[in-house]
Amino acid sequence: MITLPEPFPAWIAGLSKWHGWLQLSAERAYMHDEEQYNSHYGVSAPDPGEGEGLCNLLVIHGVDTTGPAMEVGCGTGFLTHGVARHYPGPDYLITDPSPTFLRLTKEQFDSDFPGQTRRHYAVLNADDLSRLPAGMFSVIVMRSTLHHILNVPEFIAAAARVLRPDGALIMGAEPCEAGYLLMAAVAQSIPNALKAAGVEMRPSWIAKLNEFTDTVQYCCNRDLDKTYAEDKHFFHPHELSELGATHGLNLKFYPTAAFRDFAPPYIHSFHCFSNFFLIYMEFCMLFEPDFMDQIRRHLQPQLKFIDDCHRVHPGPAITGVFLLKKGSLQLG
Ligand SMILES: C[S@@+](CC[C@H](N)C(=O)[O-])C[C@H]1O[C@@H](n2cnc3c(N)ncnc32)[C@H](O)[C@@H]1O
Repeated sequence: MITLPEPFPAWIAGLSKWHGWLQLSAERAYMHDEEQYNSHYGVSAPDPGEGEGLCNLLVIHGVDTTGPAMEVGCGTGFLTHGVARHYPGPDYLITDPSPTFLRLTKEQFDSDFPGQTRRHYAVLNADDLSRLPAGMFSVIVMRSTLHHILNVPEFIAAAARVLRPDGALIMGAEPCEAGYLLMAAVAQSIPNALKAAGVEMRPSWIAKLNEFTDTVQYCCNRDLDKTYAEDKHFFHPHELSELGATHGLNLKFYPTAAFRDFAPPYIHSFHCFSNFFLIYMEFCMLFEPDFMDQIRRHLQPQLKFIDDCHRVHPGPAITGVFLLKKGSLQLG
């Protein structure tokens, strides 16, 4: 006999609220100031193309969208806005462990926002996903969140359980180990390249460089207790594929892709390794402008070599889109 899940509206109505947010977990602030998140990454507004591209991918892969969607780790709503606009299902549960992030996301929506799907907001730590009802969601969406979750195998198992047949877990902007390791190896060659050019490394440059390479090594290592770290893991597509398969999820991986690549004007936003590397160091690692000038000038041979290895195919996969689709309901 098939057990149908409790209807979503009844389940939501039965949840308790605290300070206006549905409570699925204990709240937890982000490790960095949430109010400064957008200015840190140079983001002025959510990107509607991200959610639109994600919803187009659901269509391309025949994902069931008749039930509710859930976002895990909404942050400031960079992905949320477009999903709320384009998701065809009736409900969208927007979650984050941080109530401040929930507020910042909610503030993105004007009263005349055109999306049809009903928006709900809950405090949820993904480590508690197994507490949610089985078969409740058609779609789970995430952007740049999986690498923050402590126990990824448990999370994937729980996601498979809460998804409906033909539903999907779809994740973008997750770091792939091989690509980040390559960035760190190139970054480690910066001091010698500058020395050869007669440029002395400033102490502040050394500190930022070490911050990046130490973080890469930390995320690669698997023999550490990462409970209290914010950024925790890197991923290998083949491992996520095997993990998904264990729980009935079939992986489609789009190397170097972003969700917005699947929305108009359908342009692949990843140009080449050197472009990604330089943008990452400037905007994510906040390397100083003088330091960036020296890197652009004296790291040309290393960056060009890697670009030339990928003239007509995407790569190296520093990041990408992961779509893990659940199988259909087998009757009989
Ligand atoms: C790098 S930010 C990405 C935010 C947003 N998705 C975006 O693309 O801009 C990571 C997000 O994951 C959330 N997060 C961290 N640990 C989490 C966990 N254990 N469960 C769910 N979300 C988590 C953070 O609060 C934050 O909103």
